[in-house]
Amino acid sequence: MRVSVEVRSFLGPGDDSSLADDVLDGLTRPFKELPPKHFYDDIGAQLFDRICELPEYYPTRTERLILAEHSSDIAALTRAAELVELGSGTAAKTRLLLSALADAGTLRRYVPVDVTEGVIRATGAILATEYPGLDVHGIVGDFERHLGHLGPSAGPRIVAMLGGTIGNFTPGARRRFLRDVGRLLGPDGALLIGVDLVKDPARIEAAYNDAAGVTAQFNRNVLQVVNRELRADFEPDEFDHVAFFDRDHEWIEMRLRARRRMTVHVADLALTVTFAMREELRTEISAKFTPRRLAADFAASRLEPIELFTDPDGLFGLALARPVATPRFGAAHRRVSAAAA
Ligand code: SAH
Ligand code: TRP
Repeated sequence: MRVSVEVRSFLGPGDDSSLADDVLDGLTRPFKELPPKHFYDDIGAQLFDRICELPEYYPTRTERLILAEHSSDIAALTRAAELVELGSGTAAKTRLLLSALADAGTLRRYVPVDVTEGVIRATGAILATEYPGLDVHGIVGDFERHLGHLGPSAGPRIVAMLGGTIGNFTPGARRRFLRDVGRLLGPDGALLIGVDLVKDPARIEAAYNDAAGVTAQFNRNVLQVVNRELRADFEPDEFDHVAFFDRDHEWIEMRLRARRRMTVHVADLALTVTFAMREELRTEISAKFTPRRLAADFAASRLEPIELFTDPDGLFGLALARPVATPRFGAAHRRVSAAAA
């Protein structure tokens, strides 16, 4: 059996937009903040997998249900040869899509992109044996900065972002990202985006405040990452996990709240940061969508919706879109000049 896995990494020493820059930028502003991609070291990735299994965390199992129901439709609509997945993680749900594309006979290449190297390597190797003949081209990188390395597609391409990860962008960055991704699709490509939908705030808040405290552990883990990578002395247990639904923005906001006044040193940056008692550090937003908001984002990003698949309870959505066809004058013009010649 031919097994083909290749992994390229664009992170590591010399990488310009690193944890160091984000900590320096984020912890020296009046309202402290860290970008969410630093949650996912090996421990964070494991904690996230546990979140996905929690009874309160409905997005994962609902998206799996939608994929089980509609992957064959997606395969028929796209006839994709290549699946690029941004923030692929362990690609647990992705197998439904890969199988549907393999059954349709169109699938040739899978390109998982994630910041967590161990997960890319392990998942890539497993998938290559599960899908004989599939080329796996893993990319260890930041989907906001390294998508230029994708290269030409193996045929019609789907770019997928599952799990509601698109909600972790702020609105402006989200549209910029969608616009950039649109350029990678090519004329016959499609974008597949999983979005958590607006619903009863109590239901949403419960998903980020689980009774077992796994989400709290996951949230605090980002401080361990800073401690380890930049030799800082955060005391993670002295921070409370805070997650609430902001009704104006329709997003979940995740924060860490200092239990008391604290001074933290970040040795590698020669930085000292003070926290007032009860001061909060924002660690993530997770935007919730209405079909209308999604349509507006697509329109602003030169994308055209094809279909919005949902579950019977309308908890989660899986949107398929394609680039807006740009009018091309070239072909007609050439015909006229040929006739004139
Ligand atoms: N797709 C999976 C995982 C979602 S969690 C699912 O649906 O369950 C978000 C994933 O995106 C994590 O695996 C995390 O490591 C990755 N990630 C977060 N920010 C990223 C970034 N800027 N670039 C690349 N991957 C990122
Ligand atoms: N992208 C996921 C979401 O927004 C990630 C997530 C789930 C998460 N629970 C979390 C991120 C808790 C930080 C803290 O649903």
